[in-house]
Amino acid sequence: MTDKELLNIAKQAAQNAYAPYSNFYVGAALLTDDDEVYTGCNIENASYGATNCAERTAIFKAVSEGKRNFKKIAVVSKAGVTAYPCGVCLQVMNEFMPEGIVILENEDKIITYTVRELLPHGFVL
Ligand code: THU
Repeated sequence: MTDKELLNIAKQAAQNAYAPYSNFYVGAALLTDDDEVYTGCNIENASYGATNCAERTAIFKAVSEGKRNFKKIAVVSKAGVTAYPCGVCLQVMNEFMPEGIVILENEDKIITYTVRELLPHGFVL
């Protein structure tokens, strides 16, 4: 699975975003350590704080199916804006993929970061 392929799967997932309040469509594609792919989209709510980001949708889908370790996550926004993960999603990545890679798109270029670069000091118990 190449980074480009994972980004393309994330783009498809963004089509399912439920974002009537922000109109900001986000898609994510998560690669597990056993090379399965789980997708996610953002799911908004009239009570805005109940919104779930695309990244957490993908991670929670995978965890709920018994997966625990992830290698990479691709994140895109339909608006073409580079979809840097929010702090809450980074903290969730810190739990399940602390050594993982985040794949993003900047204009037409693929950019990658480690989860560690984006969240150098995640909370641990
Ligand atoms: N959003 C995500 O899906 N992922 C992020 O990392 C940041 C924000 C969504 C949440 C909300 O539906 C919309 O983008 C605008 O904040």
